Amino acid sequence: MDITGKVAVVTGGASGVGRALSVGLADRGAAGVVVCDIDLAGAGEVAADIEAGGHRAIAVHADVSNEADVQGLVASAEALGPVAMFFSNAGIIVAGGPEASDEAWGRIWAINVQSHIYVARAVLPGMLARGEGYLEITASAAGLLTQLGSAPYTVTKHAAVAFAEWLSIAHGDQGIVVSCLCPQAFTSNLLNTSRRELGTEALMAAEGWAGGSEQAAVDGVLTSEQVAAASLDAVATEQFLILPHPDVATYERRRADDRERWLRGMRRLQARLSGLPPG
Ligand SMILES: NC(=O)c1ccc[n+]([C@@H]2O[C@H](COP(=O)([O-])OP(=O)(O)OC[C@H]3O[C@@H](n4cnc5c(N)ncnc54)[C@H](O)[C@@H]3O)[C@@H](O)[C@H]2O)c1
Repeated sequence: MDITGKVAVVTGGASGVGRALSVGLADRGAAGVVVCDIDLAGAGEVAADIEAGGHRAIAVHADVSNEADVQGLVASAEALGPVAMFFSNAGIIVAGGPEASDEAWGRIWAINVQSHIYVARAVLPGMLARGEGYLEITASAAGLLTQLGSAPYTVTKHAAVAFAEWLSIAHGDQGIVVSCLCPQAFTSNLLNTSRRELGTEALMAAEGWAGGSEQAAVDGVLTSEQVAAASLDAVATEQFLILPHPDVATYERRRADDRERWLRGMRRLQARLSGLPPG
């Protein structure tokens, strides 16, 4: 799809890759960029930067885990024109396994999964009526593999990949292009949170999960701008799976080829990163 002249919405646009996507979309000729975030001040700064560069942008406050907010976001965006491109990107990470609280499991499910469902409900009818639309879901390499130290992140990102695949299959022949962004580590507030929560704190060390985020950094930490550029390049080719870290494709193949071997390797990596001897 050609970005030129299109109205695009980016959730989680105040920070990290959402911010870089918003700026990149404007630089690549979008007619208007709607920068959405729960942090309205941050979204406002990004929109102001884009406008200062001579492009059209507005900031909209929305909590993507709230369907009424998502509907309101799309209604606000339509003031700029029909929403041709939607980047459903906002996401969070929480640490732990089954012992993580129901509140934490519910919160991450609502933001990392349910939000994409609300977005699809809000934008698909208009896109289908126009016979054209682009929807990108930010998942993670953790949605194809496993995030050591965080079952909630692993589970919700797998669900996000599954939903994106379902949408692509259901609507790919109706003019709807769906992409799924699956990076490993890149610089952002979320990476800092991940390092803090999955890092060397006592709880994680005790559970043998320390250094979980450094698993994602094994193949190098990219910048948000590099991840956004890979993502926006893929808009033109309309490819489904966007892997800014190309090694992820190899890992996914190895996992599918021999699951037992893959699981043994992941246990060894977990032990290495946590400083424990492999079990
Ligand atoms: N940083 C990484 O290493 C990494 C790796 C793989 C995937 N991801 C994914 O990339 C996406 C963007 O994360 P980032 O790393 O740029 O993080 P970030 O924390 O810098 O940005 C996320 C933005 O989302 C916003 N947000 C959070 N909850 C929201 C909600 N309920 N409604 C609206 N906005 C909300 C935050 O305010 C923030 O501005 C996430 O889905 C994340 O899971 C990140």
